[in-house]
Amino acid sequence: MSNTIQKNLDHKKYVVSSKLQYFKPHATKIEKTFAEEISSSLNQDFKFINPKFFYDKKGSDLFEKICSLPEYYPTRTEISILRKLQPKLSSYIDENFRLVELGSGTSVKTRLILDVLAKLQDTTEYFPIDISEILTESSEELLKNYDDLHVTGIIDTYEGGLEFLKHFDNKKNLIIFLGSSFGNFSPNDGFKFLKKINSTMKPGDLFLIGLDLVKDKQILESAYDDSQGVTAEFNLNILSRINDELDADFNLQNFLHHAIYNKEKQRIEMYLKSLVNQSVVISKSNLSLNLEKNELIHTEHSHKYKLSQIHELLDNVGFEIKHTWLDDNKHFSVTLVSKCV
Ligand code: AVJ
Repeated sequence: MSNTIQKNLDHKKYVVSSKLQYFKPHATKIEKTFAEEISSSLNQDFKFINPKFFYDKKGSDLFEKICSLPEYYPTRTEISILRKLQPKLSSYIDENFRLVELGSGTSVKTRLILDVLAKLQDTTEYFPIDISEILTESSEELLKNYDDLHVTGIIDTYEGGLEFLKHFDNKKNLIIFLGSSFGNFSPNDGFKFLKKINSTMKPGDLFLIGLDLVKDKQILESAYDDSQGVTAEFNLNILSRINDELDADFNLQNFLHHAIYNKEKQRIEMYLKSLVNQSVVISKSNLSLNLEKNELIHTEHSHKYKLSQIHELLDNVGFEIKHTWLDDNKHFSVTLVSKCV
């Protein structure tokens, strides 16, 4: 119990209404982390920016736009799988489950799961965990459509949110992690992250994970380099964000979006390519950055999996696999697991 109080002190509580509250770590903590992380990740031979920094307001909006692009198959495919899964899910859960979502972003997919819970419960609790403030907006949208919904948002990293949840209470959790966001992790970090989720879970809790599957290179590369240039804008926006928040002077004209599928590593690799020799000052990171013509700044890995690899991974972490659902083309997967006891 003292732990609960301790942990909640790391987050500031904001009560919006009787049905909406959210928790946020103290602001200085986030800003310091961003400046520091950029300072170290760009101050080396292999330069990178962590993809979690894509999601400022503009970046979150652009990602929403990506989700409905004709080339970006993951979102609509996963939605079709969730529709198939809906009638089955109710046999795994009961009136005591709350929904916890990692990386909530928009709420279309959330709604499909909430619909299942709402049918079983008088009041439904929803805990979205998202690094982006967009969380409060989408929560308010949800509350317009669900009369008996209570939302507790956690505006934090996944790890921060899971830590918060672990010490919160003893209610049963259905944790969902959709959209193949897990694909951003390196295999090593991904394994550790699943371990973290597993250790947050109580016996009886459930975890639902959506993962993108290995497929044709052409399909993959056009999903990450669309004809309308929205993904390019999304990638470049991370530099605007650094300009705005860390007092930097990136000239976006001097960079190009670059996305390729690495077949051996089973991942899309996204970069920002420097078009000229240039130097950039990032004041708040105390960094003067020199980039050569054609030098790459790595921004994202999006891993793709074989079904057998998914099962092996989840098994190794200590999950019991309940079921995997696929679309007809086998482009995407959604797997339900519990914690082995
Ligand atoms: C949010 C990480 C799942 O990897 O497909 C989409 C992000 N980047 N287009 C993905 C993304 C470029 C997306 N995830």
